Amino acid sequence: MIKEIKNICCLGAGYVGGPTMSVIADKCPAIDVNVVDINPNRIEKWNNPNLSDLPIFEPGLYEILKKCLNRNLFFSSDIKEKIANADMVFISVNSPTKLKGIGAGMACDIKWIELSARQIAKYSRGNTIVVEKSTVPVGTAEIIKKILKESQEEDYKNNIDQKTFSILSNPEFLSEGSAINDLCNPDRILIGGDNEESIKALENIYLNWIEEKKILRTNLWSSELSKLTANAFLAQRISSINSIGAICELSGANINEVSKAIGMDSRLGSKFLQSGPGFGGSCFPKDILNLIYIAKFYGLNEVASYWSTVIELNNWHKKRISQIIIQKLFGTISGKKIAILGFAFKANTNDTRESPAINICKDLIEEGSKLFIYDPQVSALQIEKDLDFKQIKNKSSEQSGWIFANSIEEASTNSDAIVVLTEWEEFKNLNWENLFKIMRKPSWIFDTRNISNTTRAKELGFNIWKVGNNNII
Ligand code: UDX
Repeated sequence: MIKEIKNICCLGAGYVGGPTMSVIADKCPAIDVNVVDINPNRIEKWNNPNLSDLPIFEPGLYEILKKCLNRNLFFSSDIKEKIANADMVFISVNSPTKLKGIGAGMACDIKWIELSARQIAKYSRGNTIVVEKSTVPVGTAEIIKKILKESQEEDYKNNIDQKTFSILSNPEFLSEGSAINDLCNPDRILIGGDNEESIKALENIYLNWIEEKKILRTNLWSSELSKLTANAFLAQRISSINSIGAICELSGANINEVSKAIGMDSRLGSKFLQSGPGFGGSCFPKDILNLIYIAKFYGLNEVASYWSTVIELNNWHKKRISQIIIQKLFGTISGKKIAILGFAFKANTNDTRESPAINICKDLIEEGSKLFIYDPQVSALQIEKDLDFKQIKNKSSEQSGWIFANSIEEASTNSDAIVVLTEWEEFKNLNWENLFKIMRKPSWIFDTRNISNTTRAKELGFNIWKVGNNNII
């Protein structure tokens, strides 16, 4: 019999769990959705009554929370009770790259996923459908299955009421910054598993707002591998376009023109061809490393080295950008003030994980410059953590390092250069007249996103460098 889902518990209130559960609560008012997390501060932020200072910034999220929070969407630290009452438990915890031990720097650390499986094993009651949402190494569902099976056997030995589980893989393809739209209008919903009734129960949730033809069923392994593959292919496109951008800069071609020309080929498609400072985010670097690890595990060394080049090109590209900035500023940036516009790994998010801004800023600080960093959503505390370098408090000191700026103007005053690192809307049409007045001469603009309208800047006498362009003065 197909189970009617009335109560959901989601483990993990982060970038995937928070928005995904908010949309499910919005689209399925008859289901109670409980999001739990081991971090009480994060839960407190989600529960903030005036919805200010939410743990993540995501367009459209505020409106949904306003409607659903404490109606059928609840954030709580009571993991035990929420798992016990749930018909279906989603695992949306993070799975970062391992920092030490076997496979360090490559394999995925699934300790939080394992912890989640153990919590489900301990606290669940009756029949529970467990849904793997986090992006995980291929084979993780099998590990979850084993942990849950062991607990069933223990219960049996101890004459405790039998619990039953079925495991599904349901990877999330949302992109940060457009999460709500991606969740409401996904290209496809992928459900991997072998238990027909559980698959149907999950499918029924999605059918509240998604057409049946968009729901794709596969086995568990295909589902897990499809998610890694999708991210690896997308990241590969970015490394590919950035590699061509480097040729454009030296040859006289223009990357925007090349992207447009190849994107009109329907076999290639026009998306993910925007040259930038390199890919970042919590998924691309981690998932490719994971794929490399799996390939090595199976002895497929050529496959591993093929995917390694996508990461190597990305690292080379970031380094290349900081070197170009140094070289253009007469080969020395010691004591020079540089305005950094954007620190998030892309626009419309406050997420800085693996942001190319981190490496580029570190390189510039190491070369002795003083950075004034402005990002409309990223906090000074976050930047401090990422750069692993305390903020300079004395703004007039000659010391190299970085200072948090509250506006474009504050960041740019007396600077030698502006470096655009994130494609925020407000960086597209900068007030060149004003900037030219307040910056030191010669004034430089380095646009690593190729987004700023520089026609007027050129007339005023700015020196301009744009990624993938040969319009260099
Ligand atoms: C990605 C996948 O798109 C999503 O399906 C998956 O669920 C999680 O990983 P996300 O990390 O949110 O999503 O960001 P995405 O929009 O894919 O961008 C990733 C990186 O690539 C960013 O640093 C972005 O600036 C860069 N990028 C993207 C480019 O440099 N050029 C492009 O054309 C597109």
